[in-house]
Amino acid sequence: METIKAIMTRRSVRSWTNEPVTDEERKIILEAAMNAPSAADARPWHFVTIDDPEVINQFTELGGTEMLSESTFMVMVCGEESKEIYPGFWPQDCACSAQNMQLAAHDIGLGCVWVAIYPLEERVQVCRKVLGVPESITPFALLAMGVPNEVLSPEERYENNRVHSNKW
Ligand SMILES: Cc1cc2nc3c(=O)[nH]c(=O)nc-3n(C[C@H](O)[C@H](O)[C@H](O)COP(=O)(O)O)c2cc1C
Repeated sequence: METIKAIMTRRSVRSWTNEPVTDEERKIILEAAMNAPSAADARPWHFVTIDDPEVINQFTELGGTEMLSESTFMVMVCGEESKEIYPGFWPQDCACSAQNMQLAAHDIGLGCVWVAIYPLEERVQVCRKVLGVPESITPFALLAMGVPNEVLSPEERYENNRVHSNKW
């Protein structure tokens, strides 16, 4: 799939079949995650992969997350602040990595949704507890994936009035 086509057709998928995500697909997702740009190439990230239904189900009560029970593969993107070279950029670095995963999943025919964690302190604490994430690491975003059980049409979102030429 061409990059532009992937960007323009990706949608958040929140319904999945019970078909598993293969090892090869998992590797592609994680390689895409770690190939993201980051400030000073610091790569201040870690990834917790989750495919145990008992663990997955512990995330269904975060709020508006009941659909996660259908997900067959999830990745928790976490940030390690001490790995930063320029302080303050870790959330942006982790966001780049998360978006890479969303696009990679779409490219290989998987459906993915980003579930907000950081900076919602309550969610951060739940994730820390469920996955045993140490205090020096911050759970940032949960990417839930699987073989899609719904098809969403691309949306046209271009707005000319959001573009400011040379000055505001
Ligand atoms: C930072 C961020 C947080 C999000 N949090 C959630 C979430 O907690 N639950 C959810 O169902 N979708 C979440 N989404 C997905 C958005 O709702 C979705 O991207 C948006 O509605 C646009 O739809 P699309 O992804 O299909 O283009 C999040 C997306 C981003 C980028």
